[in-house]
Amino acid sequence: MNNCFENLISQRRSVYNISNNPTVSIEEISVWVKECLLQCPTPFNSQSGRIILLFGKHHQKLWNITSDALQKITSAEQFSKTKNKILSFAAGFGTILYFIDDKITQDLQQQFPLYADNFPVWAEQANGILQFMVWSILSEHDIGASLQHYNPLIDADVKKAFSVPDSWRLIAQMPFGSISIKPEAKTFLPLENRIKIFKD
Ligand SMILES: Cc1cc2nc3c(=O)[nH]c(=O)nc-3n(C[C@H](O)[C@H](O)[C@H](O)COP(=O)(O)O)c2cc1C
Repeated sequence: MNNCFENLISQRRSVYNISNNPTVSIEEISVWVKECLLQCPTPFNSQSGRIILLFGKHHQKLWNITSDALQKITSAEQFSKTKNKILSFAAGFGTILYFIDDKITQDLQQQFPLYADNFPVWAEQANGILQFMVWSILSEHDIGASLQHYNPLIDADVKKAFSVPDSWRLIAQMPFGSISIKPEAKTFLPLENRIKIFKD
């Protein structure tokens, strides 16, 4: 393992083939995730990101909820494909649920009306940074993860199942586990269309 951040960001990938053969403990993962919550930059240091960590039967429950919700809105033919996808997430070691506490955003909007339109956008951006921090730390420890978005379809059931406070809004789900199959090489758009550098 090479801990250099430059290598880390190249190594992090969306890993869909995951399994439940943990090489790290729940405690270790919890420590890393807590550190990300503490260190993640946020507008006005507002710290609006929230996380629920699911392991074992709780992790399975999330994917059962998702499967049931999808079954209600897809055809039988479509659902058999979807079901396999959901099973591939459930096959992992755990899932991280990312939320934004909208109460923090609303309080900031009242306190700083000049930036009222920006705070919801900034909260989403900060949550993306938080997701990337956790994703990278998992990758550093050879744990595969991907980013899923079954919200808002599953919001109500998730709220009930995991006692989610009313002001927390679900943003993303990150199933993770040991890497069964590494992802294929990634393709890139030409950099010359994506960056301008002015010098001298
Ligand atoms: C904001 C955001 C939303 C994403 N949503 C999903 C998603 O809903 N499902 C999924 O499988 N991957 C999702 N991804 C993962 C991307 O598809 C993936 O990052 C991209 O294809 C590049 O591959 P890599 O992660 O291996 O570098 C998302 C990524 C980002 C940054």
